[in-house]
Amino acid sequence: MKVRRLRWILLSLLAFAGVGRSGGDPILAKDRPAEAGVALQQILELETTARLLAVLLDSGRAVVSEHLPLVEAPNRAQPLSADAFERQMADIFLSRSGIDVRDLDHAKVSARSKRLLRELVTVSREIVVEAQQEMLRPPAGGRGFIPAVFGARTATRFSDRTGVRLKQTALAPRNPANAPDSSEKLALEAFADSDYPREKVISEVTAKSAALRLMYPLYTTRHCLDCHGEPKGERDKMGYVREGLKLGQNAGAISVTIPLRP
Ligand code: HEC
Repeated sequence: MKVRRLRWILLSLLAFAGVGRSGGDPILAKDRPAEAGVALQQILELETTARLLAVLLDSGRAVVSEHLPLVEAPNRAQPLSADAFERQMADIFLSRSGIDVRDLDHAKVSARSKRLLRELVTVSREIVVEAQQEMLRPPAGGRGFIPAVFGARTATRFSDRTGVRLKQTALAPRNPANAPDSSEKLALEAFADSDYPREKVISEVTAKSAALRLMYPLYTTRHCLDCHGEPKGERDKMGYVREGLKLGQNAGAISVTIPLRP
């Protein structure tokens, strides 16, 4: 485990320095030293942007999680309105990041970051508007507007519009479409280590991908355990096999891929 984590860090450092020539041009070409500082600055900005996008998507997931109708009390009279959703998502994001998406003009982040955060708020809201009827039904029989479904729909539309890829993933995914690739798997294995520092993201830049990739770890709240918790191996109300996760344990990650060029 330790060696693997080191490998990931080394790979990112090498790519960072422009040495990791695994195909294509290095990002920081040695023959262009004047641009190196600019590129480093750009990479740091992109890392911030990627982290903020992951936190915002997870804030939306948290609101959906809080408002899941219960099987025991299925007759919810009103779905969560788009306004209430957006307000709660913004509040959670503000408490986690210190940035108010309602006042991005004054936020100390890059212009690209502001544009992407605005778009992610817009898309998240659209997905909630479209799911109003679905939100009245408790999740059962493989259907339901659960955090992962909100996340997947939002991620797909956001990626189509911006070229920035968002993906929910886990080591043993319920949905095969969420299976990790080799880089994502390394990061997930690091997150799964109980000694791994909470909420510490892992990022890398490779010359080959010409993109910054970031993994943001997700942790269980009480709501998640309704489906992902104990008893391990039994079916949850959606009909999936429970993972037997404990409260506060790592449950996977949000993977973000941002092209270096806008
Ligand atoms: C009502 C049951 C339910 C609840 C509550 C729930 N999940 Fe899930 N979760 C699922 C299902 C079902 C999927 C697979 C959805 C799909 O088909 O894409 C999933 C998928 C995921 C994935 C993507 C990887 C995979 O397994 O496909 C992650 C990560 C995840 N859940 C974490 C969480 C976290 C964290 C919470 C709490 C904030 C949570 N879930 C709450 C049922 C639930």
